[in-house]
Amino acid sequence: MKFFVDTAEIDAIAELNDLGMVDGVTTNPSLIKKSGRDIIEVTKEICDLVDGPVSAEVTATDAETMIAEGRKLVEIAENIAVKVPLTWDGLKACKTLSDDGQMVNVTLCFSANQALLAAKAGATFISPFIGRLDDINLDGMEVIEDIRTIYDNYGFETQILAASIRSVNHVLESARIGADVITAPPAVIKSMVNHPLTDKGLDAFLADIKAAEIKIL
Ligand code: E4P
Repeated sequence: MKFFVDTAEIDAIAELNDLGMVDGVTTNPSLIKKSGRDIIEVTKEICDLVDGPVSAEVTATDAETMIAEGRKLVEIAENIAVKVPLTWDGLKACKTLSDDGQMVNVTLCFSANQALLAAKAGATFISPFIGRLDDINLDGMEVIEDIRTIYDNYGFETQILAASIRSVNHVLESARIGADVITAPPAVIKSMVNHPLTDKGLDAFLADIKAAEIKIL
């Protein structure tokens, strides 16, 4: 399973990247706003840091302008994936940019039927938003499961990028179902290390190290 980091914060990406935890990065207009940086400038910095795909989202809603924006975004670096919304115009832009040979991430996906359309339009990644479905009492994981089944039934190569991940359980469930990629905020990825029994066990070992004066160096 690939790990993408869902942020435009350079320091957070660099910290995880140094540990080999970053296979790519996803950004969106809200994350760019939060970073307080210029979209082109910060995206270039991320692309210089990370080898894998870096998703940068278009701002237009009509296909023609999305395509023009996408063509500008891909000039930033070779590892740009153009992010387009799951609208009819977004699918048109996806098809054109994919035919151009660009990576396209179709975002704001909330149903398996939408994901089916994105795959047929040649998307490299489909981003179903788990957390936002859970927020309205729908089952985000069920959508991931349906997309996995449908893509496998027909051999679609579009990668399932489980997005809007809010908890370590979302990561675990996505891995169980076989999502190709998860994109999660740095805090969620870092909290995967936590287990109370690890802390308890380490405390006990440290007490014994002290009591027995065990030294290695
Ligand atoms: C994915 O590409 C999106 O940027 C992201 O996962 C959205 O997450 P949110 O619903 O927590 O804003």
